[in-house]
Amino acid sequence: MNAGILSTGHDYPEGILTNADLEKIVETSDEWITTRTGIKQRRKAADNEYTSQFAVRASERAIEKSGLSVEDIEIIVCATTTPDQILPSTGCLIQKEIGAVNAAGMDVFAACSGFLYGITMVESMIRTGQVKHALVVGAEVLTKYVDYSDRSTCVIFGDGAGAAVLGPVEDGKGILATKIMSDGRYEEQLFAPGGGTKMGITHQAIDEKAHCFKMRGNELFKVAVRSMAGISKEMLSKAGYTVDDVKMVIPHQANQRITDAVASRLKVPDEKVYSNIAEHGNTSSASIPIALDECLESGKIVEGDLVLMTAFGGGVTWGGTLVRF
Ligand code: UT7
Repeated sequence: MNAGILSTGHDYPEGILTNADLEKIVETSDEWITTRTGIKQRRKAADNEYTSQFAVRASERAIEKSGLSVEDIEIIVCATTTPDQILPSTGCLIQKEIGAVNAAGMDVFAACSGFLYGITMVESMIRTGQVKHALVVGAEVLTKYVDYSDRSTCVIFGDGAGAAVLGPVEDGKGILATKIMSDGRYEEQLFAPGGGTKMGITHQAIDEKAHCFKMRGNELFKVAVRSMAGISKEMLSKAGYTVDDVKMVIPHQANQRITDAVASRLKVPDEKVYSNIAEHGNTSSASIPIALDECLESGKIVEGDLVLMTAFGGGVTWGGTLVRF
């Protein structure tokens, strides 16, 4: 029995941070951000909002659309790099709020590839019969880890959450190929050194903004294009398809220029590559499930369509998943 994506949901903060707003905070311009990233605005959580709130609303929407009862969910995997708190996991906090009393809750920590990490983990659990129904969530409040004096990172990131309910589907449908990878040697391309046991939680570390994201964007850009294009080709060939068979490619929404470069390497036309980066910015692990839910809600993806998802992120991590809906 294959595992398939039965339904999706998403949610994001009401607060919007536009490029014009950023022009007032840091030395940048709407023109620079638009041409270098494709981003026009991003969602920003209020001070009293936190990751699991968006995750819970996205999850409830996905579960409602699946027609299942919340008690049917046997595992909750929350992909996040910006949890509510260090303990317990955001997966457990989501479990409490939605009332998934028959589930095990946990987090995966794989930055922007986290949603595909979660999908890959639960795919084998469903296929082997260990669980029947799973909830995979990608949820982030990145704006609380952004240094708003660092113009190379603060213009990119936004907040939000997306969720998917997975379960058994008939043969020929569902997840046809999925793979996750990482290469820790690229650790310093995107990292936040503070907040953990290495540096310690000290006043000095906080004053130095050690908990905020640091990025070597230019180097990461090249790894992103190479890894996403490579794993996408591998997933297609593993499942015996070509890019012509794909209805929609959903790449992690990192930078419009990265998306365009991946599309060009895959030789896939623009209209088959989904982009919402102008409205959402880069929401890390939430970007693919938000995009997927938008595609399903708008009818861009319908039953029978072949969809290729690919992501990369800090670690570095990357992944690819090919699904027949
Ligand atoms: O989800 C994974 C997370 N990370 C990513 O996906 C990041 C991947 N990388 C990128 O998206 C791009 O590398 C960035 C958008 C981060 C940067 O774009 P870039 O075209 O690679 O610019 P750059 O880093 O090569 O910088 C070019 C110039 C520099 O000025 P100088 O040294 O040439 O005078 C930067 O200081 O652009 C400057 N710059 C900015 N200027 C205005 C960097 N950020 C900004 C900014 N506004 N926000």
